[in-house]
Amino acid sequence: MDRKSYEKQLVGERAADYIRDGMIVGLGTGSTIAFTIKKLGERLKRETLNITCVSTSNQTSELAKSLGIPMKELNEVSHIDLTIDGVDEFDPQLNGIKGGGGALLFEKIVAKASKSNIWVADGSKEVDILGAFPLPVEVLPFGSQHTARAIREKGLDPKLRMDGENPYRTDSRNFILDCHIGKITEPERLSQWLNALPGVIENGLFINIVGKVLIPEGDNDVKVIG
Ligand code: A5P
Repeated sequence: MDRKSYEKQLVGERAADYIRDGMIVGLGTGSTIAFTIKKLGERLKRETLNITCVSTSNQTSELAKSLGIPMKELNEVSHIDLTIDGVDEFDPQLNGIKGGGGALLFEKIVAKASKSNIWVADGSKEVDILGAFPLPVEVLPFGSQHTARAIREKGLDPKLRMDGENPYRTDSRNFILDCHIGKITEPERLSQWLNALPGVIENGLFINIVGKVLIPEGDNDVKVIG
């Protein structure tokens, strides 16, 4: 296993400790949270843990169901106690960019419905300023070239995400424009500007959403930021 995968496993598995009996838990998407989900599956076999989980993607639903984790639709629960998710980049204010795996829309809806949020991140995700990771923006396929043009005119260098020969489709069948910005100096303002554009469904900036980030420390410790 390479260093990055090791770090993902370390923090991903540790995050499963935050899940307690009686909780309604949001499960994020990606390779780091997959370790949390697998660990939760193991805990459910060993412990009496009465929990319900809500998913942020088809990929996560499939994994969680295969492990016997009790799942509900978001509309079937009144609230979420805790959501654990991965992140593509986070800054010292614990704002971040998500959506590298394409699940940003459901991830943001679940995160906003959650009383608390934790991110799990390998060491490469911690940055001083957001933006080196291309910002994913989910757009409606209808008129998407015009939406992209407006984003391009703002200097945000959008690239349509592809899946082989065809545009990549999210779980909601939308497109993703990955915006190569470099440095995002005013994330809140940018997020508001993007979401006000007709055709934009949601953007991958997660601002003032998480309270804690788990990252690796040394060889096998986990540091909790926040
Ligand atoms: C999914 O769309 C993303 O927001 C992921 O949470 C993010 O890309 C982190 O993924 P990894 O844990 O695979 O690095």
